[in-house]
Amino acid sequence: MHRLIIFFLLLQVFDFCNGGVTSTYIRKSEASIDIPIEYLPPPPGYNSPEQVHITQGDHIGRSVIVSWVTPLESQSNYVTFWAEGAKHHHKHKAHAKTTSYKYYNYTSGYIHHAIIKRLKYNVTYIYQLGEHNSTRTFSFTTPPKVGPDVPYIFGIIGDLGQTFDSNQTLEHYLSNPKGQAMLVVGDLSYADHYPFHDNVRWDTFGRFIEKSAAYQPWITAAGNHELDFAPEIGENTPFKPYTHRYHVPYKASQSTSPLWYSIKRASTYIIVLSSYSAYGKYTPQYSWLEEEFPKVNRTETPWLIVLLHSPWYNSNNYHYMEGESMRVMFESWFVQNKVDMVFAGHVHSYERSERVSNVMYNITNGQSTPIEDPSAPIYITIGDGGNIEGIANNFTEPQPSYSAYREASFGHAVLEIKNRTHAYYTWHRNQDSERVAADSLWIYNRHWYPKKESSSMA
Ligand SMILES: [Fe+2]
Repeated sequence: MHRLIIFFLLLQVFDFCNGGVTSTYIRKSEASIDIPIEYLPPPPGYNSPEQVHITQGDHIGRSVIVSWVTPLESQSNYVTFWAEGAKHHHKHKAHAKTTSYKYYNYTSGYIHHAIIKRLKYNVTYIYQLGEHNSTRTFSFTTPPKVGPDVPYIFGIIGDLGQTFDSNQTLEHYLSNPKGQAMLVVGDLSYADHYPFHDNVRWDTFGRFIEKSAAYQPWITAAGNHELDFAPEIGENTPFKPYTHRYHVPYKASQSTSPLWYSIKRASTYIIVLSSYSAYGKYTPQYSWLEEEFPKVNRTETPWLIVLLHSPWYNSNNYHYMEGESMRVMFESWFVQNKVDMVFAGHVHSYERSERVSNVMYNITNGQSTPIEDPSAPIYITIGDGGNIEGIANNFTEPQPSYSAYREASFGHAVLEIKNRTHAYYTWHRNQDSERVAADSLWIYNRHWYPKKESSSMA
């Protein structure tokens, strides 16, 4: 009887159709307004280090890149760090490379990137930036040694921007103390929303995310809003602000560009791709990825995850099929190499796919329909960070069979890797408390346990 009541309640909440679930949750419609600049001031003190963020600094998680900005002088350009609990004389220094750039009528502050190397695994380090009364103190914890059954918890966020909704998303994630590193699927500051791409909004974004990004690594992919390509104002260098401000360890994976690279972290191999760089045959990104997949050893890192910006399986009318050309180029490799999950952004809503592939088609056989495929990834669109462009609430109807769950709400996701076979994935809409998962799934590893997950196509 109890089960019957629950069943009828579920029927009222969801529309069932040939595809998966289109949530009927109605998010109250309101404009997403950027947090005013004066709400995101620089820290107090002369030339205080600001916009502090960290990311992994090598291929295996024993290095950290610490990045920060000093607005008035290039000093001090070093980070002091020590293991938590260590005595005073165990403090170390790492010097930064300092850069700056001009963008139209904007001149950046001094942007510092210091690589701290040869850290111990699974240790909390304290680090300090600045001098005298402008000194600021932060901390991070290195990941466990890479290995097949190492649990690890990732947050996933996309298209964040810097609105009050963005803040709700980030605070919601921060209210979950379990997240250890953030996977960021591109479209960061949305500075290009402003006249002349007002790069002050890159500064305010850096201040906004510091409360998370200074304490745990943000593993970033580039989106279209990182392009800042504006020849009408003489800005012809794509990704100029992004690549000056956000460094990644691309050389450690033999990449020739910070826009595509890979890292190992705990039991996970993460490949980051660029939807807005060439990926046709013979291009640098194509050649790199072709060499990259054979390097993935599922005995060492069972979980294979890809981050990219423009989704391949998206049933929203916004940006519909924009990821198609990249899917055509790379999807067969993803299936052959049994990628577990692909996280994308770009579309400002949430969607989770079934395990499907569409690699049979050639220009004569007419086989152009996605089919269920146990070797295919689950595709997650998580472009629902809450940026200034608002929600994408116009789904295609009927819901296609590849779409398992979709909802036009802002939120973030959490991926809890338990061991080599199981991971627990949850999506959290902003209106709920952190413990509530609006969408959840036990994910089974494609190499070690390629069973069908409970949410599958009828
Ligand atoms: Fe985008």
